[in-house]
Amino acid sequence: MSRSAKVYLDAYGCQMNVYDGELITGLLEADGFTMTSHPQDAAVILINTCSVREHAEQRALGRLRSLGALKANRPDLVIGVLGCMAERLGSALKEELSEVDLVLGPDAYRSLPHHLKAHLNGRNGCFTYSPGIPDETYDGIRPSRRNGVNAYIAIMRGCNNFCTYCIVPYVRGRERSRAPEEILDEVRRAVEDGFPEITLLGQNVNSYRWEEVDFPELLTRVAEIPGLQRLRFLTSHPRDLNDRLIECLSSGGVICPSLHLPAQSGSDRILEAMGRGYTRSEYLDKVNRLREAVPDLSLTTDLLCGFPTETEEDFEQTLDLMSRARFDDAFTFKYSPRPGTAAARMRDDVPEEVKIERLERMIAHARQLADQSRQHLIGRETEVLLENPSPKNAAEWTGRTTCGRIALVPGTFRRGDLVRIKVEKVRGFSLWGKPLKSSRG
Ligand code: SAH
Ligand code: SF4
Ligand code: F3S
Repeated sequence: MSRSAKVYLDAYGCQMNVYDGELITGLLEADGFTMTSHPQDAAVILINTCSVREHAEQRALGRLRSLGALKANRPDLVIGVLGCMAERLGSALKEELSEVDLVLGPDAYRSLPHHLKAHLNGRNGCFTYSPGIPDETYDGIRPSRRNGVNAYIAIMRGCNNFCTYCIVPYVRGRERSRAPEEILDEVRRAVEDGFPEITLLGQNVNSYRWEEVDFPELLTRVAEIPGLQRLRFLTSHPRDLNDRLIECLSSGGVICPSLHLPAQSGSDRILEAMGRGYTRSEYLDKVNRLREAVPDLSLTTDLLCGFPTETEEDFEQTLDLMSRARFDDAFTFKYSPRPGTAAARMRDDVPEEVKIERLERMIAHARQLADQSRQHLIGRETEVLLENPSPKNAAEWTGRTTCGRIALVPGTFRRGDLVRIKVEKVRGFSLWGKPLKSSRG
């Protein structure tokens, strides 16, 4: 192979997959590969996939089919499937799509450069499937990040919760935490590389543990790193959220007052069937404590409708929970049975048209709450970390507020500038306000 074979990487799925894409890029660049954003220039095409809903898999398969068509004219092209669907389907993917040369799950990326070189050196036709190293945490690998202001850093991998609808524990393996020193080093390097904001990632960050260090302790240590401006984290499981974490969120400083706390449902019966480990009133209790301790908190959530046996009354409990929790934003989904999960053994008995109708009502309600939450900020001061000129109007820049909302600020800035604004209006999904002091942060 030529030492600088070009690789095109396309990614689906959650923030963990974005981070994994950066790890993969880091691994490949360290081994002499170059990345390209044009699939037609690439010697290798990689698709990092998601399995969380059937739709996510269908999209990745559609993309693979269309990229696979390039191979008709270029038989040397190497096509690899990575990520959660690679783990779920393994070598069966080759049967589905004959163009695929390589299938590697989320714990197998260390072997990627080696396998790619073998394929590029003429072992075409030889299919590779590798499920990965147990307990892999990718220590020692430097992610190669895109330009931006936020760097994702995984503090753990896998999940032990086995919520009955969820494929993640099956495709990402058992939960394992990374050593605090590894995480702190990665944060320090990201800050030195010019990322003022860090988002710590895990499927359930509240169960992070390394010897005596738990998540609130880790957060406190990360927050002390010089130069870091903003610290966020994803995702918190409501069952494991404790008062010490609430204290961290209320401490001010670099820990941002924003929290993603997936509720999934507002019905006790459905929460029980999902295996979530909390009741509706326990969830709302925690929300009340959070709202009291962190008045500026932006609280976001994930909600599922159409889980097996969900009745109209169950669903209305979800709508009611949304109003009571006053979610600032919500990611809403309709249940999709995932093969091998406990819920997939239940009858998927909510008709598709009912799922769609419930999803639409949930989306409308979430929009209304999000809109109220933005309107509520008019007249208030907040700080914006600027990222890019607005694609719609070069005289404005976009960025995010401390609590994670998109803001538009008139003026010319540099990426990474921090400005204080007074919110004057809401434009679409964005807050709009002029800088309070100088136009530079
Ligand atoms: N670890 C995180 C994220 C899990 S996946 C958490 O615990 O919240 C992200 C979201 O996808 C979930 O919160 C859930 O709302 C949704 N999801 C998971 N499995 C799903 C399924 N089978 N069908 C539809 N949505 C699903
Ligand atoms: Fe899935 Fe539940 Fe784990 Fe989240 S906590 S990844 S929803 S099993
Ligand atoms: Fe993320 Fe999808 Fe995998 S949500 S963990 S990429 S199944």
